[in-house]
Amino acid sequence: MLKLRLITYGCQANELDSERIAGLLGREGYELIEHDEEADLIILNTCAIREKAEQKVYSRLGTFRELKRRKKGLRVGICGCVAQQEGQALLNRFPYLDFVVGPAQLTSIPTLLRERANRGIATARAPAFSYPSTAPIHRRSGIKAWVSIMEGCDRFCAFCVVPFTRGRERSRPPQEIVEEIRGLKEQGYREVTLLGQTVNSYGKNPRAPATFVELLRMIDHIIEGEMRVRFTSPYPGDVTEELAEALADLHSLCEHIHLPVQSGSNRTLRRMKRGYSRDDYLGKVELLRTRVPELALTTDIIVGFPGETERDFEETLSLIQDVGYDGAFIFKYSTRPHTPAARMSDQVPEEVKGHRLEQALGLLNMLSLERNRAYLGRTVEVLVDREDVKGDAVRLAGRTRGNKIVHFSGEEQRDGDLVPVAITGASALHLQGEIVSNGTKSLWKKDLTTLHPLSMIS
Ligand code: 5AD
Repeated sequence: MLKLRLITYGCQANELDSERIAGLLGREGYELIEHDEEADLIILNTCAIREKAEQKVYSRLGTFRELKRRKKGLRVGICGCVAQQEGQALLNRFPYLDFVVGPAQLTSIPTLLRERANRGIATARAPAFSYPSTAPIHRRSGIKAWVSIMEGCDRFCAFCVVPFTRGRERSRPPQEIVEEIRGLKEQGYREVTLLGQTVNSYGKNPRAPATFVELLRMIDHIIEGEMRVRFTSPYPGDVTEELAEALADLHSLCEHIHLPVQSGSNRTLRRMKRGYSRDDYLGKVELLRTRVPELALTTDIIVGFPGETERDFEETLSLIQDVGYDGAFIFKYSTRPHTPAARMSDQVPEEVKGHRLEQALGLLNMLSLERNRAYLGRTVEVLVDREDVKGDAVRLAGRTRGNKIVHFSGEEQRDGDLVPVAITGASALHLQGEIVSNGTKSLWKKDLTTLHPLSMIS
């Protein structure tokens, strides 16, 4: 067997792309290993969303120069969004690099590897589907699976590089998605996360015979309560009454939504080209919470977008406060090539961004802690996905339907079990608890509500 070291940066779409790369190369006789030194092939699957992510890639890449000198025959390739963004420039800058492959050209890797004599490049400007649905996927987990339902993005938010690296929006046929999920169910998977850059805009391009909500209903129907379903990330503008209803009705669909807001200031939202106002967003939150009172809500926020004044930033703080998020990823704005925001003249100084980040994180942590404390004394369904044996004690971790991490101890439980856990401790980022019984039976939405009515957390 040839040995493949695959290093992944970035989002869930990249995690899935790495599983595709591993699947494709598994067919070519490669097995995955964990150490750079033993590899015959090293692939960096990269992220370009912020400058820091990109810098990490370059410094890691730098360490392979020496390794290549020592190990004859070692090949090094770069895939993903940095590959797409930089293209030929990477081959020029890193002479020991063997190939550069964009996220939509993964299936060309085996061919590039066979062309041993040449240094290869595959980065299309208008990427089509990034893989044929028949290509094997070597999934890392046997419990939780990512399933891509659409790729690319048509929104062109002023700060975002994704439309340039992952191309225009394209939806997979619903039947193909349903079949993939049916297969996962048969293999015993317990959770599936549907992936798309604007996942709830599914079906528009090319027009699919199902909308996003229809797709959710088809999936719920075939998995018959055997799996949890999540999706990420939805675009706020496309949150509809039907989606709120589906979240309330469908037993498979978890009560969590990650709804990126980016800013609480109308002026900044406009300059970001987000396509909604603060009130539009708050309206969507209200719609969702009215239909699903126990919904956990998380978000993405950018601080220090060009032209963001102290007043704009305060609007973001007040939005965080008004919504009361369960959690959030907060980022300092980072200048990205090709994007309109990079050309804006009123860039915010680094130290101002840093200060705003700290302030926003402080507020967020306070509110998340408050929301997590509301779980104290309640029993929640946890999908076990991490075991950690320390001495005699088995420490377990898993996620609630609201996507909160819970730590607890147990002896008979294993990865993939669904267990009822009584919550005894809460911090801003985690919950702690104790298993209520040794039952590993599923507690789906309706059972959970009758067992332990979920009160509105305000
Ligand atoms: N700078 C900082 N954060 C960014 N994001 C996207 N582009 C940028 C940028 N240029 C954040 C957004 C998005 C998340 C995935 O990354 O909040 O929702």
